[in-house]
Amino acid sequence: MSSPNAESLLTAARATALHAHAPYSRFRVGAAVLTERGVFTGCNVENASYGLCLCAERVALGSAIAAGARRISAIAVTCLDARADLGLPGRTPCGACRQWMLELAPEAEVWIDGEPRVFRVAELLPHGFQLA
Ligand code: THU
Repeated sequence: MSSPNAESLLTAARATALHAHAPYSRFRVGAAVLTERGVFTGCNVENASYGLCLCAERVALGSAIAAGARRISAIAVTCLDARADLGLPGRTPCGACRQWMLELAPEAEVWIDGEPRVFRVAELLPHGFQLA
């Protein structure tokens, strides 16, 4: 398997964000995760019962797990409709997705579209919950 770099993983995330079902927020998110079984993608999927909305990151992580992948080395996230003036807080993964990353991809690099630096999961979620 070829090893996509950050830019190609972000390209996959951007393409997937175009498929977002986001009629309520109109905030389209895409995610792509790099694994030993290839790249898996996700977009946010909203529901009229707002609390049931799925985030793009968890859709991508769940897709990778369902395909049998277990080693997730990188996660790319893009928010197509983010307000530029909000900067990073308008584009970082939500707390629930960070908890999922901690469980399923604790060593992954996290690439956030528009941010030049790479993040680590432990840095995004310090002191995250883990069962002994
Ligand atoms: N959203 C994500 O897909 N990922 C995040 O990390 C933050 C929020 C989605 C959920 C909802 O569909 C929309 O963005 C607005 O919150």
